[in-house]
Amino acid sequence: MDLEKILNKKELTKEDLIYLIKLKDKEEINKLYKKAYKVKEKNVAKKVYYRGIIEFSNICTKDCYYCGIRKSNTNVHRFNMEEKEILESAKWCYDNRYGSLVLQSGERMDEENTEYVEQLLRKIKKISNNKLGITLSLGEQSKETFEKWFKAGAHRYLLRIETTKEKLYNEIHPQDHSFQNRVRCLKDLKEVGYQVGTGVMIGLPNQTEEDLVNDIMRFKEWDIDMIGMGPYVIHTETPMGKIAVNTKEEKNRRFELGLKMIALARLYLKDINIASTTALQALNPIGRELGLKAGANILMPVITHKNYRKDYQLYEDKPCIDDDADECKSCLLNRVKTVGDEIMYDQWGDSPHWEKRIK
Ligand code: 5AD
Repeated sequence: MDLEKILNKKELTKEDLIYLIKLKDKEEINKLYKKAYKVKEKNVAKKVYYRGIIEFSNICTKDCYYCGIRKSNTNVHRFNMEEKEILESAKWCYDNRYGSLVLQSGERMDEENTEYVEQLLRKIKKISNNKLGITLSLGEQSKETFEKWFKAGAHRYLLRIETTKEKLYNEIHPQDHSFQNRVRCLKDLKEVGYQVGTGVMIGLPNQTEEDLVNDIMRFKEWDIDMIGMGPYVIHTETPMGKIAVNTKEEKNRRFELGLKMIALARLYLKDINIASTTALQALNPIGRELGLKAGANILMPVITHKNYRKDYQLYEDKPCIDDDADECKSCLLNRVKTVGDEIMYDQWGDSPHWEKRIK
């Protein structure tokens, strides 16, 4: 097969995607990234939108085998940011013209939490004159909860499926975690009216390149609006982290697969928003820049208060844990400059795919 021919096709087949994800030659891989960047330019422009992320609590009822803040990890100091601090961070986000923010935390489904988030959403809307866009990343919830939060002002929701292969999903989660429930949530979120984002971890033990291609194809089938995906990075205090291979070669492999997945998602889904995730930077000092160059158009600068960052480590080597929001801002500005994209301030940066979907 001829690489140029595949890259110039209007519609890629599964075989094409598999061919691309298996590319070995560095020059050919660079051609893939370059093409994906062109498709990004054509469909979503050379523009980067920011979502300031506030990781406001690491208290979690789930026990995912890969995640550093799983409930069984007793070495984590658990925290809840105070409401006042969350609102200060939101205000910082608004004042610094980030346009939108993400609220993320460990997963809690209790009523107290539902109500807390609901009133928090209203307060954030209020302090930003209704201007800040709000994305939630708060795990699996009932449809009623999704509705409540939507009414209170959230308009986007991120819920990674982690892998679309149910068998693999069951290998990386305890038995009481349900793949089907997560699929149900993604469906409910769409019905409620959210822009829906999902994604997978890349380079999981037992995950094949074909599995990853299937993930991308499933995203299209599900007609999703946004993708946040990144390489799996080990955390030694987790069951998976204790047994996963973590050589330099393996980390490089996961990193390269992460970039290839961004490129494939851009080529195959075209007009969706794709985040260049922080996990990329955990494995490579310029990981996020390379993500933008491979087709991503969203960055999620961490604006979590400095005091809490070290306690919100889902994986090891998470960058920026000693920085505050101002430092992250100037650091990212320089990073985006090296790519040549334009940072779009004061805008929600909705997924063009979603705009077409609701017409
Ligand atoms: N490596 C990479 N990503 C991880 N996440 C959790 N733990 C890890 C890890 N060890 C991701 C999951 C989750 C998101 C919030 O963080 O995909 O959905």
